[in-house]
Amino acid sequence: MSAEATPLDRVALRRFLSAIPKVELHVHIEGAIQPATLLRLAARRGVDLPSDTEEGLRSWFRFRDFSEFLEAYLVCCRCLRDPEDFQLLVNDFVAEQARQNIRYTEAHFTISTHTANGANSGEITEAIRESIQEGEKSYGSRLRLIPDIVRNVGVERADETIEWALDNRADTVIALGISGKEDHPTEPFREHFLAARSAGLHRVAHAGEQAGPESIREALEICSPERLGHGVRATEDNELMTTLAADRIPLEVCPSSNIQLGIFDSMNQHPFGEIYRAGLEVSLNSDDPTFFATTLTDEYETSLVNFGLDIDELCGVALAAVAQSFLPADEKARFERRFSQEYNVLAEQLLDRTLGLEESIGAVGAERTR
Ligand code: ADE
Ligand code: ZN
Repeated sequence: MSAEATPLDRVALRRFLSAIPKVELHVHIEGAIQPATLLRLAARRGVDLPSDTEEGLRSWFRFRDFSEFLEAYLVCCRCLRDPEDFQLLVNDFVAEQARQNIRYTEAHFTISTHTANGANSGEITEAIRESIQEGEKSYGSRLRLIPDIVRNVGVERADETIEWALDNRADTVIALGISGKEDHPTEPFREHFLAARSAGLHRVAHAGEQAGPESIREALEICSPERLGHGVRATEDNELMTTLAADRIPLEVCPSSNIQLGIFDSMNQHPFGEIYRAGLEVSLNSDDPTFFATTLTDEYETSLVNFGLDIDELCGVALAAVAQSFLPADEKARFERRFSQEYNVLAEQLLDRTLGLEESIGAVGAERTR
């Protein structure tokens, strides 16, 4: 639709996309650090960043590839050490999610990077828990964490991660994740994912981003993930596309991240449309919004402008994120009902049109088989 949308249409659409309630399934809290907070913490911790202005940070955040991104990301992580640093990070995060009307977020958090930098695990966990609870009270926006094993960091740190995940699964942790460099093997972390599964923790895995379909097959076999982070390079393997569709393993797609890290040259070349039309389950996400100069609302707008989705389809994708989330079944049903009602009202108010959501609500409301 919106390739031909007039500027006025775009303004109304933007308002609509900002206003609708949303769920986000793939965002790294550290990658969402507010630039002003990063500068403040860098000064507090004596970390020498390449710039001391927000504008300077924006030009630093241009990457040729994942390795270059990771380098900058790790420098920024060194600015986080004491409980109050994490409190600031999480307070800002929940406020920003609420500003975008993101009512529920499952966010990656790499605990072992922080303990390796000298943070006290117990103290920062308490600070984070408090901020999550405060954020929920103040904004009604809920946050659950996905501690990440980092493939390129090694098994000892992974042991620490699964231990932390299990210790905190009662309230803050919802799943175990794996991220980092995809040219490093996933096999060393088989036991960690088995332990997560036995304890009733959900599982997600970054794969098919920097590496091809083989990284997805490996992650599926070793991590038994219920969703894939990115997974976009599945399009290089038709058989794998069929498996992902048949097994209903959703892909958490992060379009701007993929362009900023050179996975695809431009949005025109991004396979979101192909994945969506092939019937795979998908969600749209911001990944590391500060580093990729994006927001979830921007990602929604991008998908309308670049991937040929119309507004009904986009609302279907937004609702599908609720179904793909790890919320308990009764809460999912409540979110889905509430969201679709609000989408209808907002479409009438802001776009002067009625949505044909019935069919997609039926589809997302269906019980998943895994
Ligand atoms: N850690 C933070 N962002 C990541 C990404 N996009 N892929 C893998 N690991 C990450
Ligand atoms: Zn990610």
